Parts: sequence; C-alpha cells; structure tokens
Amino acid sequence: MRRIIAGNWKMNGLQAARAQALALAEGVAAATAAGTQLPRVVVCPPATLLADIARDLAGTAVETGGQDCHTGTSGAHTGDVSAQMLADAGARLVILGHSERRADHGEADALVAAKVTAALAAGLEAIVCVGETEAERDAGRAEAVVLGQLAGSLPEGVDPAAVTIAYEPVWAIGTGRTPTVADVAAMHGAIRAALVARFGAEAGGAVAILYGGSVKPSNAAELMAVADVNGALVGGASLKAGDFLPIVLA
Ligand code: 13P
Repeated sequence: MRRIIAGNWKMNGLQAARAQALALAEGVAAATAAGTQLPRVVVCPPATLLADIARDLAGTAVETGGQDCHTGTSGAHTGDVSAQMLADAGARLVILGHSERRADHGEADALVAAKVTAALAAGLEAIVCVGETEAERDAGRAEAVVLGQLAGSLPEGVDPAAVTIAYEPVWAIGTGRTPTVADVAAMHGAIRAALVARFGAEAGGAVAILYGGSVKPSNAAELMAVADVNGALVGGASLKAGDFLPIVLA
C-alpha cells in the first residue's frame, strides 16, 4: 500500500499558516522532481482554513483533510461540521476518534463508528484513531484497549479500502515520549492481525496503519522502519514545513 504522512494541526493556525502548507507542497514537488518516491502527504488544518488551504494546494501532490465531522449531513447542530461540508471544502480525508475528541468531548466508539459511516458516505476516507492511556498501559491492558477501540470504531460493513488506522498512545501525544520500537511493532502487529481477521488477508493487509505521538524529524526514520508502520500522524511537528518535510522524506 502507499504510505501516508498526515499532519494534524489541531486547534492551531491562522491565515498566515497557509504559507506553511504551500512551503510543504513546494518541498514535496522538489523531492518528487529529484526522483524521490514519496508517501501520500496530507495536511489537516482547522476547519476555518480548510477551504483556503485546499484551494491553495489544488494541483499539488499534498491532500487536505478535516479533523472531525458530525454524523449527519446537515441540520440543527450548532457549531458542528458535516462530512459533506468537509468534502465540499476540498477535503479528501477526515481524522475521526482522535484521543483529544474522545477525552474533551466524550466520544465513544459507537459515535466514532457513526462518524466513519458519515465520512465514507460523503466520499471521504477516514483516519480512525486508537490508543491507550498511560494507566491502561501500566495495567497491562494496552492491547486489549486498542483492539476494543478498533473493533468498536469501525462500523459494520465498512469498506476497509476507505479506512486508515492511526495508533496514537495517549501518553505519547505532545509529550516528547514515544513507545519503544518493540512496543510499536507489537501493537501494530496486533492491529494488523485484527484487521486481517475482520476483513481477510488481502483487504485487511492493505489498510495503512499510522503511528502517531511525538513523531519528529529525529525519530521518524526509526519509527517508520518498524514492521506494519505504514506512515505517521503528526501533530506539533506538522505545523512548520521545515519540521514536517523531513518527516515526509523519512
Ligand atoms: P504530537 O505529534 O504533537 O505528539 O501529536 C500527535 C497527534 O495527536 C496527532 O494526531
């Protein structure tokens, strides 16, 4: 499968940040022109910048995505954004079930699954996030928690070809800490096995599994070399093209 490096800007970025997305696209174009094989590169800005950045990036190799969506297409849901609106703004993908949504907004697996259904119905691909807390890892429950989230966050009958999984240990997000390579390999292997069990060897084997949590230029190559790590979901280091581009090239 083609690897994916996605940048999650979270609640960061004003109009001036559009220059970072453009600089990223220029860097990607230069690397491609130099013959480098690149992964899919995705930027997920806040909803306020999505349409502008999608327009800025039209004709480049960099794709755009949203960070969340509602389960419905339209209606009386003040403050919410539908998957159809994201697609209309130019998004190709949407991040769903991020641990910050699960923690800040009480999103549970069933809601995430309903959002996946809405996203795919709108023609978007979904990046579905799973990950354990530090207390869950310390209690030896990391794999059970992650596989439970995975099972519950993918709706019945979902098309696996439209889904990417992001394993983001909550304790590694924004902390500068990362799991050991062995722990990443074990979790990604467990996720792969669950995908194969659910979707079959071919379709389950073709779902990209991203690692997220304190990915930086200095650790990207090591993490991306781990078996069943098919890319990265990057937070803080995706905000500046100068940090994000080396991760894309790693
Ligand atoms: P950081 O890369 O800032 O740790 O964030 C990871 C993340 O949550 C991406 O979705």
